[in-house]
Amino acid sequence: MPTSGSSSMRTAILVWLTLQNSIHTLLIRYSRARVVEEMFLSTVAVFLTEVIKCVICLLLVAQEETPQRFFSTLMNQVVRQPYDTLKVCIPAMIYIVQNNLFYVAASHLDAATFMITSQLKIFTAAVFTVIILRRSLSSTQVALGILFVGVSLVQLQSSASSAASDNLNQRPLVGFSSVLVACILSGFAGIYFEKILKGAAPVSLWMRNVQMGVFAIPSSFIGVMVNDGEVVREHGLLYGFDSVVWLTVLWYGIGGLSVAVCIKYADNIAKNFATSVAIILSTIGSMYLFDFVPSATFLFGAGLVIFSIFMYSSTGNFLSNFTRHRGSA
Ligand code: C5P
Repeated sequence: MPTSGSSSMRTAILVWLTLQNSIHTLLIRYSRARVVEEMFLSTVAVFLTEVIKCVICLLLVAQEETPQRFFSTLMNQVVRQPYDTLKVCIPAMIYIVQNNLFYVAASHLDAATFMITSQLKIFTAAVFTVIILRRSLSSTQVALGILFVGVSLVQLQSSASSAASDNLNQRPLVGFSSVLVACILSGFAGIYFEKILKGAAPVSLWMRNVQMGVFAIPSSFIGVMVNDGEVVREHGLLYGFDSVVWLTVLWYGIGGLSVAVCIKYADNIAKNFATSVAIILSTIGSMYLFDFVPSATFLFGAGLVIFSIFMYSSTGNFLSNFTRHRGSA
């Protein structure tokens, strides 16, 4: 876990999040769109992702403590401070709904449309940054606008080429509404979590995620039973699970923790810039995989995204937040 704000460490976090997100988008779509006899339950995938994240965070907390102190730290920071633990209940619950909605969206939208519509997060995070964190974004607004236009142009070509191959079982309106609500939730939960994380309480990032797991694991399990209880009772929890699904679940968990690290050392807006670059990379990935030839529009859009990142960096927000908010994780 990085504890210093060296520029190579900051860049490494953003580059990692970018790569992680590029693979994530392709993986989640592939896991939902491929033709299989038994399609896994996305509610179960969300539940298992929460379990994996919590186990990883517990291991990381354990690594920082002696075995004797591990349990007392857990008791002190999770059980004996119910009010502090309760604070993360809101983002934890919101993330469960959001993660489920992203699976619904990935099932009903082609990869390109899914990626472009999920960029609405750029705006929702900016709006909630102003409302909740009371941070002024005037110098950033133009960069955010250019970023959005750039990502949209990148996606135009791939949307057009994939529209023809749309699956008839897909219901774009369901997909679009899911992604819209998920983006509003993403913006709100991300900023709310940022506020908690950067508040005065000396609770580590990993411990915050363990606290989130206290709410997220039971509530995502309730989600499984309410939505898919019948299938689970008949076929078991791991119905339709194969290596691709396990990889998607594991990758989703690692992605969630990477988002948390990025929020801690930078902020939600920097996180969204990193994931926008991921869009270009995953589009290039699909070019390579599906013989996609970049148009002038694509190249222009990609240029705008890169330009917007330089513009945002020059406002001093992009990387300086790492140093401003660094501390022990
Ligand atoms: O970028 P976006 O808002 O979509 O990413 C949020 C993702 O990060 C969710 O999957 C959420 O569960 C995860 N996350 C996490 N721990 C945090 C913050 C976010 O696992 N502390």
